[in-house]
Amino acid sequence: MLSTGATVRTLVGMNSHEPSTGHEHHLTDEEAAATFEPSSWEERYAGTETIWSGNPNPQLVAEVPGLTPGTALDVGCGEGGDVIWLARQGWRVTGADFAANGLARAARHAEEAGVADRCDWWQVDARTFAAGGRSYDLVATHFLHPPDGGMVEVTRRLSEAVAPGGHLLVVGHAPSEALAQPSESHRRAMFVAEELLPALPDDFVALVVEQRPRTMTRDGTTMDVHDSTLLARRDAAGVRA
Ligand SMILES: C[S@@+](CC[C@H](N)C(=O)[O-])C[C@H]1O[C@@H](n2cnc3c(N)ncnc32)[C@H](O)[C@@H]1O
Repeated sequence: MLSTGATVRTLVGMNSHEPSTGHEHHLTDEEAAATFEPSSWEERYAGTETIWSGNPNPQLVAEVPGLTPGTALDVGCGEGGDVIWLARQGWRVTGADFAANGLARAARHAEEAGVADRCDWWQVDARTFAAGGRSYDLVATHFLHPPDGGMVEVTRRLSEAVAPGGHLLVVGHAPSEALAQPSESHRRAMFVAEELLPALPDDFVALVVEQRPRTMTRDGTTMDVHDSTLLARRDAAGVRA
């Protein structure tokens, strides 16, 4: 699902992962702000056409085999490709997204994949996410890009949902000329993994802090991009320094 194999039909914003043509329509502040809100995503998911490929994200596939399956939370799960892959690896997975239409698609795909009994769904905005006593052995998020550097605060919030001894995996687009950036908010929505480190509570240790190169082909256009990748583990004792 993802960005990687994604087939993208929408035009606006880095969330669409469109290759840059150098002639992007630059949005007004109001238009740019709207692309980050649930209604914009609800509209994308309201149609019948599948948006993402259904394949799991490469950094998830790279990191998860080293972990012991348990409970997982995938935030910004979209159509559920990563949720389904995790369920097939033996995880019990909660797919979370702020778009109800995306969650409905994800639930349908999980049903079709025969893993619905290992999945549940949570409609929540990552920008105001509160774990509320829930905890997971793995909290993952891929290509959820809040505006204006908001991923630092999202990372802080998601870290609260990681169980003692559990892992947090945050993956997104590194700043790139190759990806369309129709506004300053979109440009600042991209991040490098190092920027997220201040969001980690003291009882986390960062295991991976990298920009990993990847070649992406979309609609006949091949481009070199980098996946900003943060993998961190929470201390097993769950004790804050
Ligand atoms: C670019 S898609 C990525 C979907 C999937 N993770 C993948 O990699 O294919 C971003 C997803 O995050 C969701 N999203 C964006 N901002 C969000 C937010 N603030 N809270 C929760 N979900 C959000 C969108 O609805 C969308 O499904």
